[in-house]
Amino acid sequence: MPKNKKIDRRRFIEKSGRIATAGVLFNVLPARSSKQSFEGEIKVSVIGCGGRGTGAAHQAILADPDVRIVALADVFKDQAQACYDNLLNRYGNSGKLRVDEETILVGFDAYKEAIDMADVVILATPPGFRPIHFEYAIEKNKQVFMEKPLATDVVGIKKILEVGKKAELKKLNVIVGLQRHYQRNYLQVKEMLDRNKIGRIISGQVYWNSGGVWVRPRKTGQTELEYQMRNWYYFNWICGDHIVEQHIHNIDVANWFIGDIPISAQGMGGREIRKGPDHGHIFDHHFVEFTYPNGEIVASQCRHQRGCMNRVDEVFQGTKGSVHVDSANYGLISSNQGKELYNHKGENDINPYQQEHNLLFSVIRRGDYRYNDVEMGANSTMTAILGRMATYSGQVITWDEAMASNLNLVPELHSFNDPAPVLPDAEGNYPIPIPGKTTFI
Ligand SMILES: NC(=O)c1ccc[n+]([C@@H]2O[C@H](COP(=O)([O-])OP(=O)(O)OC[C@H]3O[C@@H](n4cnc5c(N)ncnc54)[C@H](O)[C@@H]3O)[C@@H](O)[C@H]2O)c1
Repeated sequence: MPKNKKIDRRRFIEKSGRIATAGVLFNVLPARSSKQSFEGEIKVSVIGCGGRGTGAAHQAILADPDVRIVALADVFKDQAQACYDNLLNRYGNSGKLRVDEETILVGFDAYKEAIDMADVVILATPPGFRPIHFEYAIEKNKQVFMEKPLATDVVGIKKILEVGKKAELKKLNVIVGLQRHYQRNYLQVKEMLDRNKIGRIISGQVYWNSGGVWVRPRKTGQTELEYQMRNWYYFNWICGDHIVEQHIHNIDVANWFIGDIPISAQGMGGREIRKGPDHGHIFDHHFVEFTYPNGEIVASQCRHQRGCMNRVDEVFQGTKGSVHVDSANYGLISSNQGKELYNHKGENDINPYQQEHNLLFSVIRRGDYRYNDVEMGANSTMTAILGRMATYSGQVITWDEAMASNLNLVPELHSFNDPAPVLPDAEGNYPIPIPGKTTFI
């Protein structure tokens, strides 16, 4: 292995480790004053006005009394309009929604004008577009809330990391929507792991097994690109496959609790239930074994199949005990002798989606620079991409090999008449990865 690759990786880990351990109860950097401070209104633009963009707009409004939503940008007019209607319904003429015909911005480049108008931007498109939107936001000196995942390919991850360093130099806060880092049960459990409650973690199992998500079937008159962008979940270039899009949350917990990123992955996957063109070309199950630098092994499962065992949670075994956590505010730590060491009672815990915005807007208001989740988010996204590479190819893939690839799934796109990044065959079916034949790059 070339020496420079090793050095790069070590730097990547050191930095991530610093961010992961800098704050125990909150995922924070030491307080530093930023150049920007805010008196009065904080202007917010939403880029990607679907379910999450709309939800995050509500959370931003609730986080600070002087937040104003000033622009809504989406590639689809109906999506931006639906978001506007939703916000209007709740906030009426209170002044919190300061959007009109002129600032409902539509199209592939709509993000630019929306970002220009804002102090804080919410980036909530599907992940394929995150790198270009994040790059523009930081270039324009904006504070950022951006949803996970941060990319769908390695070129995107490298862009995100490069821009994340610029955000740090500019002291611009960036919170990534891996909300378990802002959820009290996870934070309390992590604090106890740091206090050696279960000894050294040696293994773990992380799960996102569910019945799957929506399908948005093709409609007459759509170009191929428009169809793929409406039905985005099923196209790897924009979604990343469900191991990246959804299971990232659980994989992220493994990296966070172990305090490192894997050195390699191997696994298996395929599609049994997903058939036909409207399911694009992603898998419906992946099972990956991630190996970490100190020999820890994490088994990761994600499945989108109805009628099977469902669970979404994380379990880890240590030299002295074990831990079980989930997003429903559960957190149980037990000794290897079966004694309960901690049982989180989280009935009144704050919603972590709201907490992300409360913290972001409070530091912006104070003019502090305290959050840079970029490397943590890039690590977790890349770990999930590594898992996908392993299941698609059927090979053992090291982190260094994956990072050395130039996998680039997202072309520059400006119009729905542009060629789609992946094309169907004569029967309308898309090329599905075949383990043993598909190469991971
Ligand atoms: N943290 C969480 O728990 C959580 C929950 C749900 C979704 N998410 C993330 O939020 C993101 C969006 O998911 P969603 O459920 O809101 O999807 P969605 O389909 O409801 O919304 C996505 C929106 O982005 C728009 N869009 C697509 N490409 C665009 C572009 N280039 N420019 C502007 N707009 C564009 C779409 O038209 C759509 O309105 C995804 O990355 C998803 O993983 C995170």
